[in-house]
Amino acid sequence: MAVHRPIDPTTREAAIAAAVAALAAGRLVGLPTETVYGLGADATDGRAVAAIYAAKGRPRFNPLIAHVADLAAAEAHGIFDAVARRLAAAFWPGPLTLVVPKRAESAICDLASAGLDTIGLRVPADAVTRAILARFGRPVAAPSANRSGRVSPTTAADVVEELGDSVAEMIDTGATPVGVESTIVALIDGTPRLLRPGGIPRAAIEAVIGGPLADPPSRDADDDALGVAVAAPGMLTSHYAPNARVRLDATEVAPGEALLTFAGARPTGSERAGRILDLSPSGDLGEAAARLFRALRELDGEGFASIAVAPIPEDGLGEAIVDRLRRAAAPRP
Ligand code: TXA
Ligand code: MG
Repeated sequence: MAVHRPIDPTTREAAIAAAVAALAAGRLVGLPTETVYGLGADATDGRAVAAIYAAKGRPRFNPLIAHVADLAAAEAHGIFDAVARRLAAAFWPGPLTLVVPKRAESAICDLASAGLDTIGLRVPADAVTRAILARFGRPVAAPSANRSGRVSPTTAADVVEELGDSVAEMIDTGATPVGVESTIVALIDGTPRLLRPGGIPRAAIEAVIGGPLADPPSRDADDDALGVAVAAPGMLTSHYAPNARVRLDATEVAPGEALLTFAGARPTGSERAGRILDLSPSGDLGEAAARLFRALRELDGEGFASIAVAPIPEDGLGEAIVDRLRRAAAPRP
């Protein structure tokens, strides 16, 4: 069972030391980031990384993001072109993952990168996690700390509930401020590609690269060009799934259904809803992103069989919010 370590000035040092010791011992650590909580392990230790896949029930073809303390550490494992460096300078530490060619000499184990010749790297913004990364000195592989296919965790309690038995140390810095996962950009073939919308809006990235982000290569024809099996292997269609059925762009609410809405919108029949949860009554997409996964968990906890989701604008952070909701609504395997 995880040792729960809520962080305050009096507990911080001991918690950092405990996390570093656990990582060095090949154990799993629950780590806060600004996006969602991660399930961390030493990325250079194949056995530790195997424990991540086992704990999550994650398919081994789905690579993990390696978390590092800064750009210099990232460049030890990946090959950064000028655009990649510019993006790192603009957004790290922060919710951006860069997928770049993996250095042959990188110590990151093949299992962490799922045998690909590319690697996803990111410098997270949580101060305690960055201190852990700096002190550990090795990259930390960390997927979101949820069972594969389920809703990502935004609090330490979420992690303990789902994976508490697998985690040696649970570092708790409170609810994650961004609430959706990092934006993933691939810089492999000279064309910057958006693999996953996330905590940094597309437009902010495009402003830095000075042009539009391309789509991921299609899953068949172009795969060989990138040398990857699928564009973002984790972007399997059904994902982020609560127990409840999720209905998007609802213009009508059925009696007893939960309504997940935005900016005060009330579709027809809202008065019959079993519960109305507005992600941001004031229409702030940042607030909505921060509350999204908590909201899905809450409605699940209340036992709703169906969640009607009112239309949510797809600009800015809305692109990531709608992406997650689409996956939550996708047919389940
Ligand atoms: O915000 C985040 O990114 C969180 C926190 C914990 O850092 N992490 C996260 O990890 O969301 P995960 O494993 O849940 O999602 C990582 C995604 C997966 O879809 C995976 O397929 C993709 O990144 N990915 C990782 N390495 C890749 C690579 N080399 N090429 C393409 N996609 C990659
Ligand atoms: Mg995930």
